[in-house]
Amino acid sequence: MPEADKEGKQFYQDVPMKTDGFFLKGCNSFDWGMKNRLSRIFNPRSGRTVMLAVDHGYFQGPTTGLERIDLNIVPIAPYADTLMLTRGMLRSSLPPSYNRGIVLRASGGPSILHELSNEHLALDMEEALRLNAAALAVQVFIGGEYETQSVHNMTRLIDKGMRYGMPILAVTAVGKEMNRDARYFRLACRMCAELGATYVKTYYIPKGFDTVAASCPVPVVMAGGKKIPEKDALTMAYNAVQEGAAGVDMGRNIFQSEAPAAMIQAVGKVVHEDMPPKEAYQFYLELCQG
Ligand code: R5P
Repeated sequence: MPEADKEGKQFYQDVPMKTDGFFLKGCNSFDWGMKNRLSRIFNPRSGRTVMLAVDHGYFQGPTTGLERIDLNIVPIAPYADTLMLTRGMLRSSLPPSYNRGIVLRASGGPSILHELSNEHLALDMEEALRLNAAALAVQVFIGGEYETQSVHNMTRLIDKGMRYGMPILAVTAVGKEMNRDARYFRLACRMCAELGATYVKTYYIPKGFDTVAASCPVPVVMAGGKKIPEKDALTMAYNAVQEGAAGVDMGRNIFQSEAPAAMIQAVGKVVHEDMPPKEAYQFYLELCQG
């Protein structure tokens, strides 16, 4: 048996990883095109991103809050640094004048009616370049039934991405039966980074998220997860960036909010300006009152 992730190891959470020449950790050895694309996702001033994830329909159809991307999302999209969506929604519903970063969903297959980890690649690199994507997102199911297949999807996409300067976002998907703890997320994020992911999306956990971020040598962005009260979502985003996340990739906690435009702006304050959650919630309420 190889040595597993044991308790009591030293992650040096208080020592930031040295980053030479480029503002994102672990990304200095990439070529100009890759770095330029990453700068369309991450704000070079704060080094962080507010990604708005609206790709849920690729496996669950018209999710609550995403019934009409043209009406629900297009008006708030300018507040995001980056929009994460499918090519179908991009072409049909997003104006090409939208000039922020686009992260395209590049894996898919099963619907919510079947085993979700049984995904394949669902987007060709040529199509991604035609659509001027800033990165491609692929789901990785560590511990899932089709773990190896999903990892293979990721590594094939990374190989193509390296050829054309396209960043690949590995999205760590957690099955219902999986323990959502630091050890699991360290395993999942580190595997994705070791196998070449440009950056990784993962869930926040109250205990040990700092070790997840510290042991991943490339940027980690926090996944939003199911809808929780606005104040709690802002607190979660704040804790994540304070503990080492390079921003957030939130969906339901923004577009299912009572006031999505206000919520995404409040998330922006937390992510880019380190605004504490209490103040950010107040900012949200003030925007709601108009
Ligand atoms: C993850 O499985 C997909 O990318 C989702 O469609 C999306 O990113 C989830 O976002 P949230 O959990 O914040 O609604």
